[in-house]
Amino acid sequence: MKLKTLKDLDVHGLTVLLRSDLNSDVVNGRVLKGERIIESGKTIDWLVKKGARVVILAHQGNPGKKDFLSLEMHARLLGRHVKFVDDVVGEKAVKAIKGMKKGDVVLLDNVRGVGDEFKPRKKGNVLLKVLLPLIDIYVNDAFSVSHRDHTSLVGFASHRESGIGLLFEKEIRALEKVRMKNCLFVLGGAKGESDIKLLGRGNKVIACGLFGQVCLAAKGFKFGYQDAFLKKTLLTKGSWAGFLKKLKSKLKRIELPIDFAVNFNGKRREFGLDDFPMEFEIEDIGEESIKRFCRMIEDAESVYVKGPAGWAEDRRFRKGTVEILKAVSRCKGFSLVGGGQLSEVIRKSLFLRRKKFGHVSLSGGACLSYIAGEKLAGLKALGYYTSRGNRK
Ligand code: 3PG
Repeated sequence: MKLKTLKDLDVHGLTVLLRSDLNSDVVNGRVLKGERIIESGKTIDWLVKKGARVVILAHQGNPGKKDFLSLEMHARLLGRHVKFVDDVVGEKAVKAIKGMKKGDVVLLDNVRGVGDEFKPRKKGNVLLKVLLPLIDIYVNDAFSVSHRDHTSLVGFASHRESGIGLLFEKEIRALEKVRMKNCLFVLGGAKGESDIKLLGRGNKVIACGLFGQVCLAAKGFKFGYQDAFLKKTLLTKGSWAGFLKKLKSKLKRIELPIDFAVNFNGKRREFGLDDFPMEFEIEDIGEESIKRFCRMIEDAESVYVKGPAGWAEDRRFRKGTVEILKAVSRCKGFSLVGGGQLSEVIRKSLFLRRKKFGHVSLSGGACLSYIAGEKLAGLKALGYYTSRGNRK
């Protein structure tokens, strides 16, 4: 089924429930204004211009994690016209929505603060019970969260006329063009559990970031300090030993780092694998790994890079990520860059030009799931798979 875009929806004078992805980097408790916020703003502006009342649902982080915050700062970063309401399904939220006029925009608080966000099929789901009667149209602009089976992504579409926002449209149109046969996968970032989906598919893989480290751990390598950090950061469910066992069985055709940069009393210092275990935190891949990986990338027929090679927000440890992206921009074949963090690195870098990449996606996990051939819950809810598969 063809997804309805904003142009297909008549929103004038109607209340639109807009699911945006405003999930952003947080540094010292402050939310950074990244591309997700900028791009989401374009859909909001479009709806306002067409005379809609816009109610935004979005999330920041996950319950129990450090970056799980209220969306008050996000509202300010979106612009003065966005009114933040520190409530999602209570009286305050209902009153704010009922009091909206044409062109008003209300951002409700972090939807992941409501337990029913994670129980989309629960009878009497409070998000649906409270918000459905108040809205006329549902728009999903959060492609990057659409792999999640969450109420704000799957619950509303079947009850109201629905469609996709401008950012969602840009993402899905680009991904529909991607051909992944013989593609080199460069898998980094901190969400290693999902990276496993792309192993064992016959594609060549470079593993960097925390994923590169966990692949070495699966082979029995001991890092020292980093071992406990990996376990704490990478696994959200199941047993660590089970995860490593599963990973170990899939490590064919995978290129792993041969050296690392650590935080050596505040300075970058590089060490080869023989120097481990040690009590320093690993923050990047080392020079020798960078050289080796870049050669492979430049020779690739096409390349998909997901997540940073190291701690890219910090100048001292950005090198691996930047050099990999430079190599990707030189790759002759199609290149797809996935994940909010990489697009931020490209945006802030003086050496990387966006037009040198095939497509720079703001999605990490959703993009990866799409490429892995999975059916995304949010797309399914919009009827995307009714008459087609998700890959051509
Ligand atoms: C992201 O940052 O990739 C999206 O906002 C999805 O976040 P999640 O992985 O916490 O669901």
